[in-house]
Amino acid sequence: MPAVMDNLRINGDRLWASLMELARIGATPKGGVCRLALTDLDRQGRDLFIRWCKEAGCTVTVDGIGNIFARRPGRDNSLPPVMTGSHLDTQPTGGRFDGAYGVMAGLEVVRTLNDAGFETDAPVEIVVWTNEEGTRFSPAMIGSGAFAGVFDLGAELGKTDLEGKTIGAELERIGYKGAAPVGGRKVGAYFEAHIEQGPILEAENKTIGIVTGAQGQRWYEITVVGQEAHAGPTPMARRKDALVGAARMIHEVNRIGHKHQPGACATVGHVQVMPNSRNVIPGRVFFTVDFRNPKDEALTAMDRDLRRACQAISAETGLETEVKEFWYFAPTPFDAACISAVRRGAELGGYSHRDIISGAGHDAVYMARVAPTGMIFVPCEGGISHNEIENAAPADLAAGCAVLLQAVLGRAVKG
Ligand code: GLV
Ligand code: MN
Ligand code: MN
Repeated sequence: MPAVMDNLRINGDRLWASLMELARIGATPKGGVCRLALTDLDRQGRDLFIRWCKEAGCTVTVDGIGNIFARRPGRDNSLPPVMTGSHLDTQPTGGRFDGAYGVMAGLEVVRTLNDAGFETDAPVEIVVWTNEEGTRFSPAMIGSGAFAGVFDLGAELGKTDLEGKTIGAELERIGYKGAAPVGGRKVGAYFEAHIEQGPILEAENKTIGIVTGAQGQRWYEITVVGQEAHAGPTPMARRKDALVGAARMIHEVNRIGHKHQPGACATVGHVQVMPNSRNVIPGRVFFTVDFRNPKDEALTAMDRDLRRACQAISAETGLETEVKEFWYFAPTPFDAACISAVRRGAELGGYSHRDIISGAGHDAVYMARVAPTGMIFVPCEGGISHNEIENAAPADLAAGCAVLLQAVLGRAVKG
């Protein structure tokens, strides 16, 4: 039996064709994808995925936060499933592969098993997690976080986008508020294939990243309050310009990122200026901070530096500042046996590989709290992601999928 298992081959052309067909939903003129969570386009992507899964003989269920599970039965359906997947939502200027690759790779694994008539012992489930990106609704990884019991379901369903629409109402609207309970069931193992979203594999000419864990993150929302006033008659010395204070803080965020090398990342990606009128001194500024670090102590030091900097700038300028930390997860090591299963898959396929830590957050981070978890990275062009030009080579995507197949089999077939 193991020889048969080792000789199973995924179909790289079919994987590529599915990715390209999916990428037409929300395609942007610059070659990327904009398919924000729980929009009509997200619904279309989900519908297509479900159609393909049903054609592949899977049974599909949707849970109360819109996570989709497509199940291929095993020989012993009392065993917990081996799950694999990722997300179908994208950034506003997203690419064709972030998330979509992990889902389509899972589908390709199931199609390959079907073609070979290969029966696993444990069932295999392909999963689509809701709102991984954290762009329309914050934070990121909400579907997997609710599944893993990290987030309270009711609180997440009540989360709003910038227009005040809730996750719950949007799920109902697009027909994806499912009946299945959220989480609370055993998962044998979880694997997620993903593009690296960074430059390391390409620079080192490696095909497979064996992901040993993910770095930790702290996300903040900062509000700076000054006083709105007329841009003409108000002398410079009398101003309480919230944007000038916020700009100094944003500069500090960047400085903190540089200070805590190696490993730290610090980003301000969203800024709102009120009232945002060219001849009004800004009275209020809201901005977000995204801190990341593979070491928890360093993340704590970055937190301390940020609070100190904001306090010092506020004191100097007379502005009022609220620093609200609203999301944190510690650096997350993945499961040793799952890492070994990925390594075995890479070696079996003869692919060049290296161990790597994920810089991005992934649903795998929350799944690691409730199931043995592993991830597989493949290179992306120039290390660029969260960008419409995001690109990956069909051969690398196929290699990652072949490794995924072996990793899934390693856990779904009794040794
Ligand atoms: C998810 O895309 C992240 O921000 O890491
Ligand atoms: Mn992703
Ligand atoms: Mn992403």
